[in-house]
Amino acid sequence: MNAPSPPIRLRIDDREISVVAGSSVAAAIAHAGGTARDSCGGQRRAPVCGMGVCFECRATVDGRAQQRTCLLPVAEGMEVRTHG
Ligand code: FES
Repeated sequence: MNAPSPPIRLRIDDREISVVAGSSVAAAIAHAGGTARDSCGGQRRAPVCGMGVCFECRATVDGRAQQRTCLLPVAEGMEVRTHG
């Protein structure tokens, strides 16, 4: 039996959180109680499809804008900016 992986620590909007290894960044954002982005009209948006189709989960990850966070696994020390 494999030992559980240690949690992954990352920062979401300057707040450090820990999540289970293998989580998506979208799941980490939800775990932190946030949503990914704002629409052009200023409405909060959140993941819809969870498989890279709808683009509603976009955020800035490690300085790269418009990343589909449902497709990205978390990594130690990752910096995520939502609503950018
Ligand atoms: S949730 Fe649809 S592209 Fe990420």
